[in-house]
Amino acid sequence: MAILITGGAGYIGSHTMVEFLNAGRELVVVDNFMNSKPEALERVRKITGKDFKFFQVDLLDKEALDKVVRENNIDSCIHFAGLKAVGESCAKPMLYYHNNITGTLNLCEVLAKYGAKRIVFSSSATVYGNPASVPITEDFPLSTTNPYGETKLMIERILKDIYNADNEWSISVLRYFNPIGAHKSGLIGEDPQGIPNNLLPYITQVAAGRRECLSIFGNDYNTPDGTGVRDYIHVVDLARAHLKAIELAETVTGIDYFNIGTGVGYSVLDIVHAYEKATGIKINYKITARRPGDIDECYANPKKAYEVLGWKAENNIEDMCRDSYNWQRQNPNGYDS
Ligand code: NAD
Ligand code: UD1
Repeated sequence: MAILITGGAGYIGSHTMVEFLNAGRELVVVDNFMNSKPEALERVRKITGKDFKFFQVDLLDKEALDKVVRENNIDSCIHFAGLKAVGESCAKPMLYYHNNITGTLNLCEVLAKYGAKRIVFSSSATVYGNPASVPITEDFPLSTTNPYGETKLMIERILKDIYNADNEWSISVLRYFNPIGAHKSGLIGEDPQGIPNNLLPYITQVAAGRRECLSIFGNDYNTPDGTGVRDYIHVVDLARAHLKAIELAETVTGIDYFNIGTGVGYSVLDIVHAYEKATGIKINYKITARRPGDIDECYANPKKAYEVLGWKAENNIEDMCRDSYNWQRQNPNGYDS
């Protein structure tokens, strides 16, 4: 039996594929490359020395998806495929709702049709909105502030209703905190198109001389140094959490939710300093206005993931910075290098 990976050519999907292939799992991958490159899949083959089936399929094309599931002995799915840029989701809400929600509905219908009722879903800490306190546990109230976050929360609710209607499903909702870093080989990593929105890709491009100066969005937050605090997690640790989630899903039915973070909050300035320490490169920065929608602090209590999945993060912040830079240095223009 094989595991269907949707969005496997993306940043988190490609790293997860490596962990699954190394664990001897059989994978069938679909992606439409709307935010990724085929080269990422070649690199996964190169790192692991293992092969997998790939189909260039859009989740919105239900017939094509049906054919893949029907013909490939799929018994479970890790569902990464979706659009993820907060700003773009505010500008193009219909695109986001259609792609993320309809895509997921098509996927769940097809999986149910062929009895593959086991899914791990990529949710996000964004579903906690602006938390009343930190660290965040899974039972915190849920809310969102933008269409991207809304799609994640809606999908969580859809999955709950699917389970309530049919208790044969096994569903793991992983709420990722801030994934950064890259595979140690430097062969795969995050490859943002255009100007990066997120902190680490921006710092990495400053370090590489592609951008002049990091703008730190505000130093008047209610945090120890005034800059925003987040829970950064190495993408390889995050990838490993999916393996644990599938292993559990293979033994139980139900729906459950897990925070996937380290439990440690770092400020923007902490990250700048850690990056400088890990790479020996000075990061130019200036303090600018706050970015609308940003919150003071967001970090996980990851205890449940440890107790139930037997998973915890192993890489520290310097590993994350070093591996980010290693990927950037080896691939100055990402997969186009
Ligand atoms: P990514 O954009 O690198 O990967 C997503 C992949 O899905 C891309 O390869 C894209 O081409 C593909 N895709 C999108 N829509 C598709 C469709 N309709 N049909 C087929 N393929 C489609 O993103 P990522 O960082 O790897 O994130 C993976 C998942 O994790 C996403 O659902 C994202 O919302 C979620 N997530 C990401 C972060 C983060 O910071 N990276 C944080 C929390 C949650
Ligand atoms: C962002 C998304 C969030 C998503 C998360 C996943 C936004 C508004 N939120 O969260 O929905 O779940 O990624 O990783 O995009 N910063 C700077 N300068 C920069 C970029 C960022 O100072 O150029 C600061 C931000 O203000 C924040 C921190 O760095 O304090 C982290 O920002 P970012 O990497 O964009 O992640 P989040 O905002 O936490």
